[in-house]
Amino acid sequence: MNPTLTRQEFLSQVGALGAAALLAPLTTAAVPTAERKIKVSVIGCGSVSGMYLPHLSKSPFVELVATCDINPERAQRAAEKYHLANHYPHLDALLAGVPFDLLVNLTNMQEHERLNRQALLAGKHVWSEKPMANSYRAGRELLDLAIQKNLRIWGAPAVVNSPQFAFMARAIQEGKLGKVAAAHAHYGHTGPDWSAFFYEKGGGSLPDLGVYNLATLTGLLGPARAVTALTSIVTPTRKTGNKGEIRVEAEDNAMVLIDHGNGALSHVQCGFNYFDPYGHEGKGQERPTITLWGSQGNMSLVGYDWAPFGVDLATTADEKGKRYAVETEGYVWEQGASVIAESLAIGKEPRINAEHALHVLEIIEAARKAQKSGRRVVLKSRFMWPLVGA
Ligand SMILES: NC(=O)c1ccc[n+]([C@@H]2O[C@H](COP(=O)([O-])OP(=O)(O)OC[C@H]3O[C@@H](n4cnc5c(N)ncnc54)[C@H](O)[C@@H]3O)[C@@H](O)[C@H]2O)c1
Repeated sequence: MNPTLTRQEFLSQVGALGAAALLAPLTTAAVPTAERKIKVSVIGCGSVSGMYLPHLSKSPFVELVATCDINPERAQRAAEKYHLANHYPHLDALLAGVPFDLLVNLTNMQEHERLNRQALLAGKHVWSEKPMANSYRAGRELLDLAIQKNLRIWGAPAVVNSPQFAFMARAIQEGKLGKVAAAHAHYGHTGPDWSAFFYEKGGGSLPDLGVYNLATLTGLLGPARAVTALTSIVTPTRKTGNKGEIRVEAEDNAMVLIDHGNGALSHVQCGFNYFDPYGHEGKGQERPTITLWGSQGNMSLVGYDWAPFGVDLATTADEKGKRYAVETEGYVWEQGASVIAESLAIGKEPRINAEHALHVLEIIEAARKAQKSGRRVVLKSRFMWPLVGA
């Protein structure tokens, strides 16, 4: 495993703008005082908004003010359900309408970059579903723009917030596994059928599914130094709810190998062609999906990393092993935007950070480059690590 990046090393790697982001306190710019709630508007009122909106509506740090969707009935329905006076059919109208602090972007993957940029330019903080942008470079530009404007941007997923992630990260930092050599993660199902964007250029199983595993493994083992990968399209056409039969353009099957430095290697596999009796919702999944092996122990996360409910750990001191971290402690995958609103309200830096989301985006891009070129791709980006101390 690569050694811990000290704050100073990290600052020198991310450059002046990145350093400014880290040094800028959360309670600056448009951030309200602790007594005030964060005014939140949601753009994109499709499938995932059905998970976000109930969570946001229950947060003591959130005042939901508006919804927006280019499908105006969806925006209206969501606004009515949560008794909001404002709903808009376009981001321009949302930005010109009722004032708010934080935009929660739940639109098509390909739209995130453009909408996130427009929101930052209009002085809004942003929580974006994955990916934050269509390329690592554009994502970096968005983060730099946020810093210049004394704003903040964050990107899903929120997997590092689970108590199971924290347990695993601490076990590694405390040396319970000895020298970590290898890790594996997988996530797949038969693919969403409601919207075509998952299969169009800029979509794919890596930014939709693999992104969780990549965030977990880099969160546990540290930033990737280099990546190699194979990707493919298993199902060339799909029937989708909004566009009927479409040609699949983005990979729907991926195998990624990651070098974390100091000998630790990991592997992520994801795809939209996995028969999985637990379905898209993952209900009833009780098997490990993440496993790490070291010279003195091994450890598996039980359930998906976005909905874990235990960690099985065996070591030289306890060869049979036990299950730990069996409580969710309130963690749910859809909590990201609520956690960010809380952070903005109370001025506390969250564990989720934009540099980590951008690093994962660079890995996804590198995996695609590796597939195209047949070569190993060296990564530039880093993030402050470890995310959880011993
Ligand atoms: N569905 C899930 O369970 C789930 C889970 C986790 C993350 N996500 C992520 O959430 C995002 C949305 O996924 P979804 O499944 O909700 O898709 P969806 O198609 O159900 O919803 C997307 C919504 O965004 C709207 N939209 C698109 N472009 C817009 C624009 N320019 N302005 C305003 N509205 C616009 C669409 O009209 C649609 O209502 C994706 O990034 C996806 O990867 C989805």
